Amino acid sequence: MKDLPRLIDPFARAITYLRVSVTDRCDFRCVYCMSENMNFLPKADLLTLEELDRVCSAFISQGVRKLRITGGEPLVRRDIMDFFTSISRHLKSGVLDELTLTTNGSQLHRFADQLAKIGIKRINISLDTLDQEKFAKITRWGRLTQVLDGIDAAINAGIRVKINVVALKNFNENELDNLVKWCAQKDMDLTFIEVMPMGDIGNENRLDQYWPLSDLQKTLAKTWTVIDSREQSGGPARYVRLAETNQKVGFITPLTHNFCESCNRVRLTCTGELYQCLGQEDQLDLRKVLRDNVDNKSLINAIHAAIAKKPKGHAFDYSRQQVSGQMSRHMSHTGG
Ligand code: GTP
Ligand code: 5AD
Ligand code: SF4
Repeated sequence: MKDLPRLIDPFARAITYLRVSVTDRCDFRCVYCMSENMNFLPKADLLTLEELDRVCSAFISQGVRKLRITGGEPLVRRDIMDFFTSISRHLKSGVLDELTLTTNGSQLHRFADQLAKIGIKRINISLDTLDQEKFAKITRWGRLTQVLDGIDAAINAGIRVKINVVALKNFNENELDNLVKWCAQKDMDLTFIEVMPMGDIGNENRLDQYWPLSDLQKTLAKTWTVIDSREQSGGPARYVRLAETNQKVGFITPLTHNFCESCNRVRLTCTGELYQCLGQEDQLDLRKVLRDNVDNKSLINAIHAAIAKKPKGHAFDYSRQQVSGQMSRHMSHTGG
């Protein structure tokens, strides 16, 4: 097979992973992610499903091998299964290694079987607590039982599940062992994430929320035998295995241990902005290029031009007891 072109950034990092936010809307309002009253984009500004397909396919033609669909909540976008079905042709042809999504799980009871059928092998589901009341509080609008049903639906459909937990001080600290045990019982992977300064979150304070994973790891080691692992999932997590259960636990540590050096990804928003880094403001408007040109040549040139400007990394920092490197946009804008 002919080698595909490659996208290489100024720091010699190969860009093989595209994250695509298909909507900025969500049926939850997690307190670390959104303020209660959010102004969402007018639907007319969104890329159509056909346009999303066109951009993703252009990236794939330039060497992207992993596509993660995000949001907002990707499964609340109307007719999103049509997009999944169409884009899954690249899995079947072998040019894409992985098609996957990050979801809050609320709609999985409806879509898990279909997702499995089109070739999705693994999904990441966000869940920060196993306590119903706390879940209602942290998501503002979510119902835990609905998410648990969605998780079971995914497992029953044969999809491997990874649970994403944002580590939150005074919130889920006391649930660490419970979360670990629950994931072991269900044979799910688990990843902890440090809270990042993305967007205004109303009255909430990031520093009050922040539970450094260096602390979490020490607590984990009190109960479990932690074995370093070289396993990777293509994203920023570093993994360990717990000897007692042999389960995989990951850590995403933008604050305590920077991982930008090995960055392999960029993200497309639902309006066609291409953000070269989660923690920088730089972006390029692909929607205009897409709409102004029927052929893909300009689109591909624009993609290369954007990658040629990918910044070195984020500037998130809480070490002086204040938040720096804060982004004005929310996580839901770029899909994490
Ligand atoms: P895997 O394919 O399982 O490795 O998933 P992933 O970690 O790449 O994706 P997921 O959507 O589960 O993201 C988990 C967390 O990692 C989210 O909070 C993301 O915002 C964060 N994350 C993903 N990519 C980056 C990145 O490039 N930089 C930073 N700082 N955080 C990231
Ligand atoms: N910091 C860290 N993780 C966040 N997420 C949303 N907002 C933030 C934030 N400010 C997480 C979600 C989901 C993933 C896509 O990003 O919980 O797991
Ligand atoms: Fe890559 Fe930017 Fe994330 Fe660092 S913060 S890992 S450079 S996207």
